Amino acid sequence: MIDEEPVTVHRASDGPGLYAVFGQPIAHSLSPRIHAAFARDLSIALEYRAIEASAEDFVGALAAFADRGGLGANVTLPLKQHAARLCLSVSERARQADSVNTLVRRGEGWHGESTDGVGLIRDITGRHGLYVRGRRTLLLGAGGAARAVAFALLDAGISELTIANRTPERADALADAIGKPEGVHTRYWSDLGQWGSFDLIVNATSAGHGRMSLALPPSLMAPRAVCYDLSYGRASFGFLAWARSAGASHAVDGLGMLVEQAAEAFEVWHGRRPETDAIYAELRAYLPGDAED
Ligand code: ATR
Repeated sequence: MIDEEPVTVHRASDGPGLYAVFGQPIAHSLSPRIHAAFARDLSIALEYRAIEASAEDFVGALAAFADRGGLGANVTLPLKQHAARLCLSVSERARQADSVNTLVRRGEGWHGESTDGVGLIRDITGRHGLYVRGRRTLLLGAGGAARAVAFALLDAGISELTIANRTPERADALADAIGKPEGVHTRYWSDLGQWGSFDLIVNATSAGHGRMSLALPPSLMAPRAVCYDLSYGRASFGFLAWARSAGASHAVDGLGMLVEQAAEAFEVWHGRRPETDAIYAELRAYLPGDAED
């Protein structure tokens, strides 16, 4: 089902390429707006749609998109691990993480890439000027987005990674996939009072989308800790409010990561990297407030 009218930019004589983002919910996705801005800036013709698809609908919706000439797609909650399974080939980053957020049509099938991790690190270090190297890090969640950022955080030099997930088996599976038992630990959610304290806390759960509170204790926060929520807008408000009240030095939402992962995806599809500052500023002004420190 097409959920939104397509954003059409610079129709070329041979017609614009067709792109989309798949997820559920998808109606309020900012990706069509971001890719339209990139395309406008770089004078590239494209049509970018938001397509609502549950995990059950996804294979059929993607096949219909390919039949209509779809060249590339972003994949968001809750489809990133499903996307990894249906690709004919995946990049090394996507294989490691078992998570795909960017699909590229290659011949009769899809090639999968994961740009979330690069997007997160570019946003934290580049846009916000914060360091991650040496930080004791807590990762909340073990779904597709969490898996992608776990590898990127370790590559960026965090000192230790603790993973906690509501369903402990998924946290264990992620720790096993990383395979560094000396530096990567899992914790049961029910023991969260005994997890210790952390210099960097990353919320990669989708709890905020359902307005669910994670009920985290302030004891998780080390002095000068940085908190980052992969969500943005209202979905991030609960975690960011907790972070501020518990004494975080910075509480940052995932808007910048969204823009940066989109720029990486755009480069995968079109071979040119767009500038991100203008669209970031535009979206920051457009989103409801209280989302960034
Ligand atoms: P994404 O692609 O965004 O990672 P996902 O793969 O569906 O989406 O993962 C969602 C994550 O949010 C999972 O870690 C999920 O925990 P479970 O593995 O137990 O399902 C977590 N999550 C969702 N709602 C939550 C809640 N209310 N409290 C805690 N964790 C929650």
